[in-house]
Amino acid sequence: MLCQWGINVTLDIYTLNTYILVMIDILIKRGKVVALSNGLGRGYNIDLYIKDGCDIAIKDGMILDVAKNIMEDSERVIDANGNVVMPGFIDAHTHALFGGTRVDEFEMKIKGLTYKDIMHKGGGILNTVEKTRSLTEDDMIDILKKNLKRMSETGTTTVEVKSGYGLDLKTELSMLNAMRKFREDFIDIVPTYMGAHEFPPGKSRQKYINEIIEEHLPLVVNNNLAEFCDVFCEDGVYGKEEARRILTKAKELKLGLKVHADELKESGGAELAGEIGSISAEHLIYPSDKGLELMSKSEVIAIMLPATSFILSSDKPPVGRLRENGIPMALGSDFNPGSSPVYSMPLVLGFACYHYGMSVEEAIAGSTINAAYALNRADRVGSIEKGKMADLLILDYKDIRELPYWLGSNPVKVSLKRGRICFERESC
Ligand code: NIG
Ligand code: FE
Repeated sequence: MLCQWGINVTLDIYTLNTYILVMIDILIKRGKVVALSNGLGRGYNIDLYIKDGCDIAIKDGMILDVAKNIMEDSERVIDANGNVVMPGFIDAHTHALFGGTRVDEFEMKIKGLTYKDIMHKGGGILNTVEKTRSLTEDDMIDILKKNLKRMSETGTTTVEVKSGYGLDLKTELSMLNAMRKFREDFIDIVPTYMGAHEFPPGKSRQKYINEIIEEHLPLVVNNNLAEFCDVFCEDGVYGKEEARRILTKAKELKLGLKVHADELKESGGAELAGEIGSISAEHLIYPSDKGLELMSKSEVIAIMLPATSFILSSDKPPVGRLRENGIPMALGSDFNPGSSPVYSMPLVLGFACYHYGMSVEEAIAGSTINAAYALNRADRVGSIEKGKMADLLILDYKDIRELPYWLGSNPVKVSLKRGRICFERESC
């Protein structure tokens, strides 16, 4: 009997028990459900197993149950037919809002010019700053829609986006405002303020750092525009003590902290992340031993960006030393127009395994539960559990190892964001 609240009460004639059957929105049947423990996965001790022949009940955008043979009535049933069902990807590091492209620089690079040669020809971050400053807030929202739709089509359901292509108060705030106004149901944005991505031309270092501390950060926080503050801590960009000043102010204002650390050379970034209690340190190609020790003590998460190393033909991070220090690894695309025009998390997982030698378990945890921790969202997303958001993917594969293995393909058959189907390749 279906009563007006949509609750179905049945009587089991064998046991005379009364069950309350809730009318659910979607029932996914017969999946190979990727189960991860809700804690941070570290090194080879990642607790990942597959629940075969498992169903998932979804109601009001949330996971109501994960079990075999769920009986509830459902508006829609999707038969996963033994395919892998996993949490939506969480892309923990992007610069996904920018004007124009840097396709000219790409051509210079493949002709053999170095990063420095390209900078001297007016390339690099400042090239994109110029193009981003000329955008209106509406243009920015359109750009976000286009870029994030592409990410969604390859399975990303939550994405961190950094500002940092404005380097002036007006554009930095517009970028964050555009992220706040962006309200699409296929993806959630986690906004990060990164005014300290470079120094703006024509302004002294001290003047710009003071401006960040005295004007940008208070306005960002008072208007509730960002959850995190990130700084490009690198010799030649923001030195360790300059980055510390900015992050100390951000911490006082109760923003979460992130650090672009030791990407081009050992610059004290990993140490700073540990000393200041940053939630994550990102890139980490050249962290010092002391930096890793401090990160481990302060439980800083390492965000690995393997697409960037591949594109820049740079060295790789010391994955073995991260494991030895028990540092959890998350993954990000680093999507940006220069060092990583890569929006696909499946491709990033492929690079993580093939290029960085991460295990399949590390890559899966890195793009789901560990990334959720790195964005302070592990209570809501990152694993398939009762009470979490129904951000789910049904893959085209029956074996989870195929996900990184088929490098460059789109594995997503169906993707759900908050229990709503937002991408469906063919009927299941
Ligand atoms: O994470 N390292 C600094 N920032 C970006 C590069 C951004 C750009 O080149 O536009 C990164 O790789
Ligand atoms: Fe970055």
